[in-house]
Amino acid sequence: SGYLDALAVRWGSQADLETLATHATIPVINALTDEEHPCQALADALTIRERFGGLAGVRVAYVGDGNNVASSLMVVCSALGAEVVCATPRGYEPPPGALGAACAFGGNVSLTNDPYEAAAGAQVLYTDVWASMGEEEERERRLRDFAGFGVDAELLAAAAPDAVVLHCLPAHTGEEISSDVLYGGQSAVWDQAENRLH
Ligand code: NVA
Repeated sequence: SGYLDALAVRWGSQADLETLATHATIPVINALTDEEHPCQALADALTIRERFGGLAGVRVAYVGDGNNVASSLMVVCSALGAEVVCATPRGYEPPPGALGAACAFGGNVSLTNDPYEAAAGAQVLYTDVWASMGEEEERERRLRDFAGFGVDAELLAAAAPDAVVLHCLPAHTGEEISSDVLYGGQSAVWDQAENRLH
């Protein structure tokens, strides 16, 4: 705290980050933990606002792992009035704390195990890697468990005609997102990445 004006921290443990922030006398910014990725969610909200003029009433479908990105997306988007549907395989749902925080904003948040149910009519289709940093050893198991949860042209066709696709990057094409969708006309991923600058 004596050396710096502020501290941005990216590391594995949310609990350790909260301990650090408790003892720091300077601002501590969560730049990603195992549980949250709030700066990413702010960039995501900005991207959605650029495309749709706001978040109120926008249906946001997250398909994949109920991880840090999913948790923060649910909280931020529901706080700003979006409807959020999160589709994960059984056992990979976002933690109850994240769901509770999202619901505390009075948001319209729901969970499903069916990617097509989530994507139906969605204006935003969002995905992230199936094995996050620190989960590399689970990768093979996760590839099996997430079969059928990839965002591809068929799933995108179930979304609204003006839907955009988001991904926080880096992407694993052929896994959680197909190459044609990532690089296709409905991808807003590059604007989304640029919005991390702000
Ligand atoms: N869920 C991913 C996000 C990377 C920006 C991870 O934690 O590795």
